[in-house]
Amino acid sequence: MAVLSVAGRRIVSLMGLLLLLCTATVFAAPRPGSNDLFGCRGRRSIRREWRTLSTYEKKQFTDAVNCLLCKPGRTPRNLAEGVRSRYDDLVLTHQNQTFSIHYVGYFLPWHRYYTWTIEKMMRDECGFRGTFPYWAWENDCDNTLPDDQSKQKFLNSPIWDGTTGFGGNGAFMPTPPGSEGGAPPGRCGGGCVPNGQFKNMKVNLGPGAATAYNPRCLSRDNAPYFACWYLSKNGTARTMKATDFINFDDIVEGGPGFGISGIHGGGHYGIGGLLGTMGDLFLSPNDPSFWLHHANLDRVWWSWQRLDSDNMYSMGGPTKLMDKTSPPTQLTQPITMGQYVGGCGQAGTVTVNDVMDIRDMCYDYDKYYDVNANNVPPF
Ligand SMILES: *[C@@H]1O[C@H](CO)[C@@H](O)[C@H](O)[C@H]1NC(C)=O
Ligand SMILES: *[C@@H]1O[C@H](CO)[C@@H](O)[C@H](O)[C@H]1NC(C)=O
Repeated sequence: MAVLSVAGRRIVSLMGLLLLLCTATVFAAPRPGSNDLFGCRGRRSIRREWRTLSTYEKKQFTDAVNCLLCKPGRTPRNLAEGVRSRYDDLVLTHQNQTFSIHYVGYFLPWHRYYTWTIEKMMRDECGFRGTFPYWAWENDCDNTLPDDQSKQKFLNSPIWDGTTGFGGNGAFMPTPPGSEGGAPPGRCGGGCVPNGQFKNMKVNLGPGAATAYNPRCLSRDNAPYFACWYLSKNGTARTMKATDFINFDDIVEGGPGFGISGIHGGGHYGIGGLLGTMGDLFLSPNDPSFWLHHANLDRVWWSWQRLDSDNMYSMGGPTKLMDKTSPPTQLTQPITMGQYVGGCGQAGTVTVNDVMDIRDMCYDYDKYYDVNANNVPPF
């Protein structure tokens, strides 16, 4: 047995610590279905609906997001001049990959890993010990109500609470001439988010693909009628009845027109409208409500995967934006968050296969949707 000096022992234990911190993201070879890949040792974190969180738990979440908004970014300025915060590092990754992660089969796996990544960064870099939330849309959307009541229900959601929540809609700004085609029906905001936990945050990147430093407010342009056209219970039920993954992804993503938006676009343009941050295809993660919406999209997918063993590893759909003739998305396709996102300076590159079972990724949901979009215990 080797005898180590005190200094030697210190180095060994430091190396052990580094190894422990980095195993999951840097050193582990991707092994499909392996818990080690995601550093999952024992307890899974269970995501819950926003309004079931206590005031304290809500604050834990919004504080951790604000922490990432305050920590200095790691992306070198010569790659993207506008990046100021850790949160911007995350936004940039989405912005940079926009054309390969939307309207492709890869969309759901990529965003599953993306949402997992921010949760991991919150836990590793901001001491987050709380519950990651999702937004069960049907609590705020009921298209069987008269239009005005449906609208009020959406606008009065506790998600937009001006104290504990994500803040409310921006002041109304008329549709700029020439932009009518980009305005979802019933848009009624456009200005800065006036209150809530992200009132003072700065959006630094964008609009669109621009990466210059361009600090401005977080904006919202709610379109409740449009949102609830898709996000009412029957929109989710329609999605849950998909026959295979290609069909499922097609219903979730729909297309670029407001008549075929699906539950994905329903949330983005229902919150962000024409002038709000959530409505910017490149920049939408800059609105923290993005994570609530995407966690629920992920929950719909996971629920659908669990409905039938054939669904569990079902994959496919285009590899090129909206091009149904492009080769199908494969389970072996790698997913990367880029060099400046994730733990230890680098998020590991995983494959689609690695993110098919969320239990391997160390999280789960407290409730699943059944085929009629009822919230039921995990099955
Ligand atoms: C953007 O993506 C390209 C690959 O598509 C990559 O080479 C580049 O490093 C990325 N930029 C940043 C800032 O991550
Ligand atoms: C959902 O219900 C509304 C109101 O009853 C109806 O107009 C709409 O077409 C339904 N949507 C789907 C996707 O079934």
